[in-house]
Amino acid sequence: MSVVVEAKDLRQVYKIRRGLFKEPAKLQAVGGISFAIEAGKTLAVVGESGCGKSTLARMVSLIEKPVGGTLMLDGADAVNTPQADKVRLRQAVQLVFQNPYGSLNPRKKISAVLEDPLSINTNLGKGERAERSRAMLAQVGLRPEYANRYPHMFSGGQRQRIAIARALMLNPKLLVADEPVSALDVSIQAQVLNLLADLQQEFKLAYLFISHDLAVVRHIAHEVLVMYLGHVMEQGPKQDIFDRPAHPYTQALLASTPGVGPRSVQKIVLKGELPSPLNPPSGCVFSSRCPYAVEQCRAERPAPRQVETRIVACHFAEQFLASGFPQPASADNASLPG
Ligand SMILES: Nc1ncnc2c1ncn2[C@@H]1O[C@H](COP(=O)(O)OP(=O)(O)OP(=O)(O)O)[C@@H](O)[C@H]1O
Ligand SMILES: [Mg+2]
Repeated sequence: MSVVVEAKDLRQVYKIRRGLFKEPAKLQAVGGISFAIEAGKTLAVVGESGCGKSTLARMVSLIEKPVGGTLMLDGADAVNTPQADKVRLRQAVQLVFQNPYGSLNPRKKISAVLEDPLSINTNLGKGERAERSRAMLAQVGLRPEYANRYPHMFSGGQRQRIAIARALMLNPKLLVADEPVSALDVSIQAQVLNLLADLQQEFKLAYLFISHDLAVVRHIAHEVLVMYLGHVMEQGPKQDIFDRPAHPYTQALLASTPGVGPRSVQKIVLKGELPSPLNPPSGCVFSSRCPYAVEQCRAERPAPRQVETRIVACHFAEQFLASGFPQPASADNASLPG
């Protein structure tokens, strides 16, 4: 299978103004994320609010330029894009957002929403544009005659189907979906996820799927990337990570989502509050909340490394994989296995 997108060490830093006479503070929103997604496959990015998921989505969908790292999209350099590739790359990646109402212009009929990308980027005639938009409506499970309606005449789930249809009008290779079902009722979520899975099969689409909800991720992902404060904690095949997490943070996320983790899942209660990304902990960024953290964790940041089928950034990943996560003795002096 062909690789559609490959990111290496992608980084983003924002400057935060702190008043007239102070130097702006630097906030590292994404601190070196790498992955590759093949045609027909889904990489899900999970992590708490503020860990950098949307920032990653904006870089991969070419809305923001990263401050570091490389991004290859459909075989071309997407950071320093040669002029000749720009139009093609912008069409190759499309975005679907959480709030389909906010992203659909209320004054435009659905026909215009779907046909505009064609009028701007192709020289198809009126008749053919109308035909393609109606075919795409059918493709996403809506009636072709809905083309004459306005966005407010649809339910949330239908609107998200329209947003997906719009994203697919120019035959993209990669769909970046940032919390695409988080605003929908659970019953509707499953329908939209099934639709996304069907469309992926049919068009061999690669998905970068962003979600904070592990139940959703389990449904749709092939690979999973767990982020914390802009850094990768654990990354690998979905089944391995859900069945046998190697990082305490993954374990904590699984334990806090009923029905998704391994059967006898050791509850890990995280200590304290999520630190500010303006002032991340020294050493391992997760060390201030990890019940197993020891001196080494606070002193030395673990580089992400290959352990069995996955990549893990934890000094003790091998022990956790071999013996599981022990009951933390107390929040402050948990003992490590082995
Ligand atoms: N344009 C910006 N300027 C400054 N800081 C930003 C900007 N965009 C994001 N940030 C900061 O970067 C960090 C990552 O934000 P991001 O929106 O990527 O997180 P997220 O994982 O998508 O969170 P959520 O789950 O809440 O959507 C946060 O600390 C956020 O405050
Ligand atoms: Mg976000």
